Amino acid sequence: MRRIIYQSLASPDMDRAELFRLVYHARVANEERGLSGFLLFADQRFLQVIEGETWKLMATFAKIRRDVRHRAVTVIDERSITAPIFGKWRMRCFDEGGAGMALDAIAAEASGHVPRVVEDAVAAFFGCERAQANLQRLHLV
Ligand SMILES: Cc1cc2nc3c(=O)[nH]c(=O)nc-3n(C[C@H](O)[C@H](O)[C@H](O)COP(=O)(O)O)c2cc1C
Repeated sequence: MRRIIYQSLASPDMDRAELFRLVYHARVANEERGLSGFLLFADQRFLQVIEGETWKLMATFAKIRRDVRHRAVTVIDERSITAPIFGKWRMRCFDEGGAGMALDAIAAEASGHVPRVVEDAVAAFFGCERAQANLQRLHLV
């Protein structure tokens, strides 16, 4: 089995409706292929953790990479795993509204044992978001 963590920039027309459509299809496909993980969407950026049988994961990731709904796909980490951590999540999605809850939900799902690399990637993703939110607030003041 394998796990890939990547970040990307969403296309400008990616909104909540598009996101829900994407996630709906991803869940159906992931259910069929036994893939699992989660997707974060904030500030027109994605962070995805996706895991499963190596060949199924690689085939799906090849499609994801080519998807025009995002660009600048950057792999943060890719490694062999013995078992999926998020096996019950066919592709749990957290968008701007749920951003604050994401780490708690991820930690709960991983029974408190979130791999360091996952935790760091999520923290960096939200850290950046928070920094941008603060900047926006400062400009507004
Ligand atoms: C950010 C992002 C995340 C995606 N995540 C998944 C996913 O977890 N599983 C999946 O099957 N497709 C995912 N897709 C969609 C794929 O790029 C592609 O549209 C899909 O695999 C096509 O499947 P099909 O050829 O079986 O119809 C994602 C696309 C984007 C832009």
